[in-house]
Amino acid sequence: DKAGHKHFMAKEIAEQPAVIGEALSRYLTADGEIMLPDPGLDFTKIDRITMVACGTAFYACLTAKYWFEQIARMPVEVDVASEFRYREPPISDRTMALFVSQSGETADTLAALRYCAGKADLITSVVNVTESSIARESNLALPIHAGVEVGVASTKAFTCQLTVLFLMVLKAAVDRGAITKEELADYVSGLRSMPSLINTALEQNAALRDEAYKLSSARDVLFLGRGAMFPLALEGALKLKEISYIHAEAYASGELKHGPIALIDENVPVVVMAPNDTLFDKTVSNMQEVMARKGKVILISDRAGLDEAAEGTWGQIEMPPVADALAPILYAIPAQLLAYHTAIAKGTDVDQPRNLAKSVTVE
Ligand code: F6R
Repeated sequence: DKAGHKHFMAKEIAEQPAVIGEALSRYLTADGEIMLPDPGLDFTKIDRITMVACGTAFYACLTAKYWFEQIARMPVEVDVASEFRYREPPISDRTMALFVSQSGETADTLAALRYCAGKADLITSVVNVTESSIARESNLALPIHAGVEVGVASTKAFTCQLTVLFLMVLKAAVDRGAITKEELADYVSGLRSMPSLINTALEQNAALRDEAYKLSSARDVLFLGRGAMFPLALEGALKLKEISYIHAEAYASGELKHGPIALIDENVPVVVMAPNDTLFDKTVSNMQEVMARKGKVILISDRAGLDEAAEGTWGQIEMPPVADALAPILYAIPAQLLAYHTAIAKGTDVDQPRNLAKSVTVE
């Protein structure tokens, strides 16, 4: 049932404030303490984390790496499941292996889990389908509470994965004494404001549809982001290719000048994910390098960021201001809606893109 929406994808994008609210209510007490299902995690017993996943879930892991390192001061390694085993990575003592999967049945992710079983101290997973193989074979499975996701392109599962991973990061930071009570309270209140911030972001639907219409005639699109916005740029590019079949790639903003800038000309739209954070000025200077080569920039930032840097850009999308760390969750919304409306403009099958399956059970 699409609940009045044209596509499951549109319904699932719109559901995000509700499902993230639900996930938060399952993992936070009224006084803002983090509660994980039993057996609860004790991050004083682990020194490092190895995260493994595929596709969109892999990008959630890449985002969480920034968070675990910056906020909880824990070293994290991330790999795609289809390569992880072939590296034959040594798993040292006091390692937690963490698998992220919406379906819980992705063959490569499950195989990576089995590789780690008996080697890592602890096998944990972040899943949507709680009765899945990956959940069953984990010592601890954390549900994301996104509800059934039907659209092949993952949307609400991604933001719920990010939400649950952020809560894990906070738990790790508390256990390891990496943050103060006040910092924890700030992060928790930031998380609690996400549903309403996402509602505000969803109000940009019409503006995003207009930008998507412009994108729909492009052959190639680049996405740029710095810091934890880099994985989100990767996710934006993946969404666009999956459902609109436009070739899209993402780069860390600072990497552009090391090669990909050669691609830029007046035919290449470049989507710049630039929340007004400590990295903003650097991202903007990379954006200006694109504009100097006639690249057409769509800048996604907040009011202050747009006021400072939108001059001469091809398109602008305004997001509400957000705590720096939580920007990847909020900016997922414009990434999803851009892909959605571009696909609509091109007339492709949004919910069932060609060649793709919801659950990939072959390696
Ligand atoms: C992208 C997408 C895929 C999945 C990937 C992993 O929109 O849906 O990239 O994220 O196949 O699937 P799960 O999370 O079920 O392991």
